[in-house]
Amino acid sequence: MSIPTAQAASKQNAGYHAAGLVEDGMVVGLGTGSTVFFAMERLGERIAKDGLSIAGVPTSYQAAIRARQYGIPLTSLDEHPGLDIAIDGADQVDPDLHLIKGRGAALLREKCVCDAADRVIIVVDPTKTVDILNAPVPVEVLPFASAGVFRRLAALGAAPVLRDGVKKDGPVVTDNGNFILDCDFGALADPRSLEADIAAIPGALECGLFTAYGEKITVIVGEEKDCRVVSL
Ligand code: A5P
Repeated sequence: MSIPTAQAASKQNAGYHAAGLVEDGMVVGLGTGSTVFFAMERLGERIAKDGLSIAGVPTSYQAAIRARQYGIPLTSLDEHPGLDIAIDGADQVDPDLHLIKGRGAALLREKCVCDAADRVIIVVDPTKTVDILNAPVPVEVLPFASAGVFRRLAALGAAPVLRDGVKKDGPVVTDNGNFILDCDFGALADPRSLEADIAAIPGALECGLFTAYGEKITVIVGEEKDCRVVSL
């Protein structure tokens, strides 16, 4: 058996803790990324061993594929426009529980699921917590409008970069058929107003800033041996 690295152990502790917050009968938003995998793994165990009865709404093809592997029954936002809980990862978290998400290009569906959920559990390792958000902000862009959106984002002070594929030539195409512009704005003094400014650009379908959900977010910061639970 391989010994987990400290970071993998942190992710596992956060994911397992989050899975423990899910109750029988809940409809659960299933986020994308490596930390949520651990939550799904534990949910799969609870389904198999304890008869936990839940349904999941996946935020990406990746989440759907992994949920099926773990035996988590799937449903949709059409069937359940309101979710009991969502579990997702993040790229950065600040003390106001503002988030940057979207490294995995799933931010559009992730924000829809976050918005639909009564409670949102964000699972991260300690490298994700920062005093001020400063990572590039991913923006999902309608290809038809991408040149114009690029210009508008540059006017807001970003240095947008069209995200390229890995093992695919040319741009990343999201699960929704769109492009991603990664926008480096430096340190974000006012992430809430930046999110509003980006939302006002026609063709910018969604951005990876999540600033409106702090009240319903609980952040689980996994440590090597335990977790820290943060809420407002
Ligand atoms: C997916 O688009 C992202 O928002 C992920 O949820 C985020 O990057 C966290 O992923 P990890 O848990 O793999 O760091």
